[in-house]
Amino acid sequence: MTTCAGVSGQGYRGAVDGPVDQLLRAARAAQANSYSPYSNFPVGAAIRTAAGNVYVGTNVENAAYPQGVCAEASAISAMVTAGERSIQAVLTVCDGEMLSTCCGGCRQKIREFATPDTLIHAAGPGGVLATFTIDELLPTSFGPENLR
Ligand code: THU
Repeated sequence: MTTCAGVSGQGYRGAVDGPVDQLLRAARAAQANSYSPYSNFPVGAAIRTAAGNVYVGTNVENAAYPQGVCAEASAISAMVTAGERSIQAVLTVCDGEMLSTCCGGCRQKIREFATPDTLIHAAGPGGVLATFTIDELLPTSFGPENLR
């Protein structure tokens, strides 16, 4: 990992070490399988869980446009299907120089399985551009504890 563009107020906060590189590689591999013929905007996502396992997802679009699924949602589905529920870090990667962060719906989906310490990395072709906490991306959010 080499880039630290500081695009957001928080900039790149992840360690320049194996774990983030591992997520980036995994997310890029998933991105390569994106089914995005309508937007031509392939996205890859990789989640590391509290148990240390990595789950990936990509965006899967549909001719009935609203039925498309984001990369983060795919990765969360894989994680939950495997029996895990705690996101330690999540990384998304897409093409283009502009910083692209998780959409609003995906922020809420990540929120369900995040802790205040969960790191949410946004990467482009050159690597991680910015890192956020869920509270930065979705302040004053609604979560499972509201229903208890
Ligand atoms: N997309 C994601 O996969 N994740 C996001 O957080 C933002 C958007 C996908 C959805 C759609 O397939 C394409 O990017 C263009 O919006």
